[in-house]
Amino acid sequence: MKIQVLISEDKIKKRVKELGKQISQDYKDKNLLLLGVLKGSFIFLADLMRTLEIPVQCDFLKVSSYIGDKSSGKIKIDFLPPVKKKDVLIIEDIIDTGLTINSIKKEIEKQKPRSLKLCAFFDKPTRREQEVKIDYLGFEIPNKFVVGYGLDYEEKFRSLSYVGTIGK
Ligand code: IMP
Ligand code: MG
Repeated sequence: MKIQVLISEDKIKKRVKELGKQISQDYKDKNLLLLGVLKGSFIFLADLMRTLEIPVQCDFLKVSSYIGDKSSGKIKIDFLPPVKKKDVLIIEDIIDTGLTINSIKKEIEKQKPRSLKLCAFFDKPTRREQEVKIDYLGFEIPNKFVVGYGLDYEEKFRSLSYVGTIGK
């Protein structure tokens, strides 16, 4: 399989730094918890966290929703860490239909965090089925299946330091 570069490593690094600066300003004097959605967000979260200039904690939750490149439509949250008294910033790899993130948000809200916002590195707005408010966004991308920088196709390609599309 051939991968075509969509967003280079340099562009990714630059954007992560910009997001880190913005988040550091906005969350000064807050109780920031980066809550990563496994597995796709773990590389972005690790990079973002190291650009922050403020105290920060991290935790992860796991959802099962995708098989291959199709959404099953059903989302199960396998593990949700305690978020009480935290200013929770959900870290997602990509927002596609919006079904996954809206289910996650609903579950977290039940636990009454101090605040709840969303940071997604990629957004594919053309495929949206439910409205989603993205508070911090890396890149808007076209309606293509992408891999790399944590994103997979059948568990492959997560380790690429750029983001690309799969060609046949
Ligand atoms: P949604 O519920 O359709 O918004 O699905 C979002 C989830 O699907 C993301 O967290 C990813 O794990 C996965 N996903 C959506 N689009 C892509 C893609 O282009 N490449 C890899 N994973 C994707
Ligand atoms: Mg995901």
